[in-house]
Amino acid sequence: MTEPTGTVPAASASSLPGRVAIVTGASSGIGQATAHALAQAAARVVVADVNADGGEGTAQAIRDAGGDAVFIPCDVADAAQVEGLVTQTVNRYGGLDILVNNAGISGGAGLLHDLDVDTWDRVIGVNLRGPFLCAKYALPHLMERRGVIVNVASTYGLIGAPLAPAYCASKGGVVTLTRQLAVDYGPHGVRVNAVCPGYVDTDMGGGRARLGPDAQAAANARREAAAARQPIGRQAHVDEIARVIAFLASDASSFMTGSIVTVDGGCTTTFNHG
Ligand SMILES: NC(=O)c1ccc[n+]([C@@H]2O[C@H](COP(=O)([O-])OP(=O)(O)OC[C@H]3O[C@@H](n4cnc5c(N)ncnc54)[C@H](O)[C@@H]3O)[C@@H](O)[C@H]2O)c1
Repeated sequence: MTEPTGTVPAASASSLPGRVAIVTGASSGIGQATAHALAQAAARVVVADVNADGGEGTAQAIRDAGGDAVFIPCDVADAAQVEGLVTQTVNRYGGLDILVNNAGISGGAGLLHDLDVDTWDRVIGVNLRGPFLCAKYALPHLMERRGVIVNVASTYGLIGAPLAPAYCASKGGVVTLTRQLAVDYGPHGVRVNAVCPGYVDTDMGGGRARLGPDAQAAANARREAAAARQPIGRQAHVDEIARVIAFLASDASSFMTGSIVTVDGGCTTTFNHG
């Protein structure tokens, strides 16, 4: 888990005064940083995650800093839980302005013919069915408040990255769903955009934390080496993604919808000569 630095304001203070935001997957990583960024901009934040300890921790840290946040446990792949998340949010705060579909998992690293069907279903279930379900139950409320959706896709949804068929397909689906929702809901006053992060310094899915020290060092070294070949030459800090999400959630991006915003240190601009 990477703590937000707080050194650079995520968005101008009070750029989201009283707005009600759901951030899925906000127990750690990019989602946690986004929850902090939205709260710093004066939004009221619902932290939604399957990880209760992390989720309670994020909400408590926001409250300790003077913000308004609550944790609601939710598996985004479960329709009943997502419907309950939205209902509880609206009952508590009176409406919904912002949905950040951030929860996501990696999985199924390898060639597609070796990929087991359950792994494919799990990755698509969290990464694509999750944003579908959250949007489905949130949109009636977002239409009432001219709200916004920000989807967290990935550069892996734009290119054919090696050995990640399920993950690439899930994120490619999120990219296209973003554009499609922008078409249908623009006339209803709802903006829908996506960010595509490149390499971000998180422990995505806790995978590295489960490794032994040597394997963990090797995994970190591989990731840093890949990131070093990007134009900016390093991994992103979570705050560098959260700031863009906060911008897309705010009125500062009022003429943006259907935009797929790469936040990738330039990695998709150039052939990787590594
Ligand atoms: N880290 C990267 O390099 C990177 C790059 C591009 C895109 N992304 C995307 O950013 C998003 C956040 O990833 P991260 O790097 O912060 O990883 P992370 O593992 O720190 O955060 C993912 C969060 O999602 C939660 N989650 C997992 N399954 C869930 C479910 N079924 N329901 C609700 N919550 C669930 C986890 O508990 C965790 O809090 C993901 O969608 C990921 O695909 C990450």
